[in-house]
Amino acid sequence: MGHSRAKNVAYDDDDAYSDDDYYEEEDTGGDGMTDEDREQMRTGTIKVREALGSDITVTDTQIQEALWHFYYDVGKSVTYLKNKYTTAPSKPAAQPKKQKQVSRFDQAATAAGIEVHSAPGTKPKAKKTEGEKLTESVEKLKVDETPKVKRKNLNVVEEYAKSGMKRMANFVVTGHVDHGKSTLMGRLLYDLKVVDQRTIDKLRKEAENMGKSSFALAWVMDQTSDERSRGVTVDIASNYFETEKTRFTILDAPGHQDFITNMIAGASQADFAVLVIDASINSFESGLRGQTKEHALLIRSLGVQRLIVAVNKMDTVSWSKQRFEEISGQMTTFLTSASFSPKSITFVPCAGLTGENVTRKVEDPDASWYTGQTLLDALDASEPAKRNIEKPLRMTIGDVFRGGITTPVSISGRIDAGALQIGDIILALPTNQTATIKAIDVEEQPAEWAVAGQIPTLHLTDIDPQHLRNGDIVCDPKNPVKLVKFFSCKALAFDHVLPMSVDVIRGRLQAAGRITTLAATLNKTTGEIIKKKPKIVKPGEVARIRVELENDLPLEVGTRVILRDGGNTIAAGLLEG
Ligand code: GTP
Ligand code: MG
Repeated sequence: MGHSRAKNVAYDDDDAYSDDDYYEEEDTGGDGMTDEDREQMRTGTIKVREALGSDITVTDTQIQEALWHFYYDVGKSVTYLKNKYTTAPSKPAAQPKKQKQVSRFDQAATAAGIEVHSAPGTKPKAKKTEGEKLTESVEKLKVDETPKVKRKNLNVVEEYAKSGMKRMANFVVTGHVDHGKSTLMGRLLYDLKVVDQRTIDKLRKEAENMGKSSFALAWVMDQTSDERSRGVTVDIASNYFETEKTRFTILDAPGHQDFITNMIAGASQADFAVLVIDASINSFESGLRGQTKEHALLIRSLGVQRLIVAVNKMDTVSWSKQRFEEISGQMTTFLTSASFSPKSITFVPCAGLTGENVTRKVEDPDASWYTGQTLLDALDASEPAKRNIEKPLRMTIGDVFRGGITTPVSISGRIDAGALQIGDIILALPTNQTATIKAIDVEEQPAEWAVAGQIPTLHLTDIDPQHLRNGDIVCDPKNPVKLVKFFSCKALAFDHVLPMSVDVIRGRLQAAGRITTLAATLNKTTGEIIKKKPKIVKPGEVARIRVELENDLPLEVGTRVILRDGGNTIAAGLLEG
């Protein structure tokens, strides 16, 4: 597609399946840019330059490459450029990865011996003659004609077994807005030296300059300028750390109710969850009426069984034992009613801001009553999750990235079941298109294969990016998921459920649908029918309902979906057929 913008790469989940205009051909003049593109590039360049200030020297071309790659998102471009052109080299894992940001296709392509242009991905648009551009395109065509991807025919299940790989665990960090999730994770990474002192000092200085000094640790996770200026997390950010036993992937979720769908996308990739609660007076109480409750119900409905409740900001209540017990007591009652088993819940008092009881025991004399685990101990005590490595491949696309010419598109997401390797042909649904895996990154490092439970980035060829969207399913072409127009599910009502229009949410997918039938209300524990054809299902009740989709979707028995309507969660369902 040369220079024309890959408008068809779904970059925002809200446009998935809705905006047909994205596929229309545009008049792009000679350089592949529309007038609108040019104007966005011009104003974007000015804005980015302003935001970067005088500390960073970058050329207009570098700014424009970043703007192009990040779809003219000024915030993301600024963050990217700042990271690329200022900081001293730190360990790769120290840079958290917003799931919607930069892909590592260059790194992987280089490892695979493929020539690529420097990130972010596309060639400079300014100051090139037509002749130069033509030569360049011809050169790139040559690159593209390199032999097809070789498949090593590995037995990935065996490779995985003999790799002696540490056990892996992904956990999502959830809870009400501002309860300290990102700060807690920033602290954890800092104390484990995944993030170095220099980076923290820099963040502290930047946060102070913006009058937001209390957010410095949160900024380890919150990387976009939008998140930083608003002081809230907007989208899931991933980062990694390891203990002797386990490689952990952190999925830091937003608490704000406007971004619940992003939280759902994170929670659907998690093996267990950390629920962060602000212990300060009134904060716990208002959280329990808000997203503390909603997140807990959602993660349970998405299949998460194990929960660590981090009773955070204990410094604000002088490490009061009574407050900790009050919160633990109320939460146990609520969580058990939400079908969490008491033995799968661990309560840990902590303070992310001060670092007490995160990786080191709390020393405050007020806390002498507490002799239990630190947050890190509790994380490390988590049981290994069951992996369906030998089942057919199922991967949910969490993000689609535009790549360069040699690797036009990359996708990332969790492998829900099965395994894959370089050279595999995969099938994307619902578009029903195949692609070849050209390279794989696991935790931002090149890899030859990946297995269930991991969240790899796959660099693909032989597919037009328009056939890949956030929330789509990738599977084995020989063992595909069926597309359905209707499904029946066992649903837990969050709100009153009636025959009504809903958004069906699965991972990052949001699709239009309609609850058509309320078949029966069911006994929560035994599943026995209580009442056939109820007129309405009340919050907290479980019912069998039927949903009709506007478009066919790849859904199978056992899939978990969330039904929402205009910003409210209506119900969570488990597909029965
Ligand atoms: P969202 O992602 O937007 O939902 O917020 P969050 O839960 O990630 O909260 P964040 O880490 O952004 O912190 C919010 C505010 O709480 C910041 O001002 C933090 O400094 C403050 N905070 C976080 N942890 C603690 C703590 O342990 N003690 C005190 N006193 N303040 C804290
Ligand atoms: Mg946050």
